[in-house]
Amino acid sequence: MLKLEHIKKSYDGTTILNDINLEIEDGEIVSILGPSGCGKTTLLNLILGLTDADQGRILFDGEDITDTPMEKRGFNIVFQDYALFPNLNVYKNITYGLRNDPNISTKEEVEELIELLGLREHLNKRIDQLSGGQKQRVALARTLVMKPKILLLDEPLSALDGVIKESIKEKIKTIAKEFHLTTIIVTHDPEEALTLSDHVMIINKGGISQYGKPEEIVKTPENDFVKAFILRQLEIKKNNIYSLFQVAV
Ligand SMILES: Nc1ncnc2c1ncn2[C@@H]1O[C@H](COP(=O)(O)OP(=O)(O)O)[C@@H](O)[C@H]1O
Ligand SMILES: [Mg+2]
Repeated sequence: MLKLEHIKKSYDGTTILNDINLEIEDGEIVSILGPSGCGKTTLLNLILGLTDADQGRILFDGEDITDTPMEKRGFNIVFQDYALFPNLNVYKNITYGLRNDPNISTKEEVEELIELLGLREHLNKRIDQLSGGQKQRVALARTLVMKPKILLLDEPLSALDGVIKESIKEKIKTIAKEFHLTTIIVTHDPEEALTLSDHVMIINKGGISQYGKPEEIVKTPENDFVKAFILRQLEIKKNNIYSLFQVAV
């Protein structure tokens, strides 16, 4: 179990995150949802160990890891821009992390991930020959071969649309459930958060606005921010569809 206790973070005297408390059970998918600039990536970086908190504690399986360096935490992230190596082909990108420690994943396990993510036919391609969805699948495979204890995803669907977005969403769900992998997803899109996760944490102005199951958040929004944020975003999407077919609403 991952536990955040009273996490506080400021940059240059400005409070970015204030008193963040969160408990995530093993194998759960949790979304961190909020508008742009509310501190979602900062929170992910704090969990990863890339950034230090000013106050508060982070515990993993009961152990205080607040001061544990990133590489010893054993978590892993897929960055928003994927950060793939353009000079290596798909296969070499996937197996890059194993170059110093090939025992982390067996050849069979690497093959299983290649199958699961549908990358077999792309293994010899360069990164610039891939679509956005294919790049995202390579980024996922590259991270999963490292067998992270927690998988962190920063806006994994924001660069994708339509069918591709749905298919990556399904892949993320399948992986989390199949490997019983705790997965934390950052998104600014309520629809993504509500359809992908077991629990959703909504952040506004540096604090937790609501934490709950998707159904609870939709049925019983706890405050005006949640109501407005969720409804507005869902309405925008609906309106897009209406205007596409030129239906008056
Ligand atoms: N390294 C940094 N130094 C100074 N300010 C930062 C740094 N990283 C993020 N911020 C600021 O913190 C706020 C939250 O950023 P971020 O966590 O990236 O938000 P989100 O991912 O929700 O869009 C923003 O105002 C951003 O400018
Ligand atoms: Mg961000």
